Amino acid sequence: MDQVVNGAAPSPRRLVVGISGASGVVYGARVLDALNELGVESHLVITRAALLTLSQETELSPDDLTAKASVVHRLNDVGATIASGSFRTLGMIVAPCSVRTMSEIATGVTSTLLTRAADVVLKERRPLVLMVRETPFHLGHLRTMTALAEMGATIAPPLPAFYARPGSIAEMVDQSVGRALDLFGLDWRSVRRWEGLKGPAVAE
Ligand SMILES: Cc1cc2nc3c(=O)[nH]c(=O)nc-3n(C[C@H](O)[C@H](O)[C@H](O)COP(=O)(O)O)c2cc1C
Repeated sequence: MDQVVNGAAPSPRRLVVGISGASGVVYGARVLDALNELGVESHLVITRAALLTLSQETELSPDDLTAKASVVHRLNDVGATIASGSFRTLGMIVAPCSVRTMSEIATGVTSTLLTRAADVVLKERRPLVLMVRETPFHLGHLRTMTALAEMGATIAPPLPAFYARPGSIAEMVDQSVGRALDLFGLDWRSVRRWEGLKGPAVAE
């Protein structure tokens, strides 16, 4: 499915994927798997801290992770295609999104390619989805999220949907990933969609 932005020609089926050092690097890995299944070109940027969480949280090597992407960009390559708004994409997802990366995007500091690419997506009014993961949040985190929402970003913390009755952590992860991809109009098979209440209602 092509997406039309501001009446312009359809954007290529191409999504920027940032993976930062919040817990839950598996969300980023599954986003890449989903984009492969959907035939969407993925442009990946990974932070150094994400390589730490990768080693702590999964059995994947950095090569295993990058092999899932169509194109891998170096974190300091601010001359990469995705650093320019003229390079058309469907938008960008940061999965997971650390508080540090979120805060940098919110300020427009953009000291890395990841945050520059996010800034570009915001300025071009394309969808920016941030799967922010931290708990608990302090007021500064909440204010930063508000600022980003005001700029047009979507804050989509990877919170489990228990109504989907996940049978495993993998199913929980895939439900969150699929719902985040919904925000780009991408329909991934793993999403369990609500079909209304079943059985007798207990509340009036
Ligand atoms: C195992 C591990 C788990 C972490 N979990 C989180 C987290 O859930 N949220 C967060 O904001 N930072 C978390 N951090 C801290 C970030 O990695 C750290 O703030 C880092 O500077 C983020 O850099 P980045 O945004 O460039 O990836 C974690 C770090 C490690 C090593």
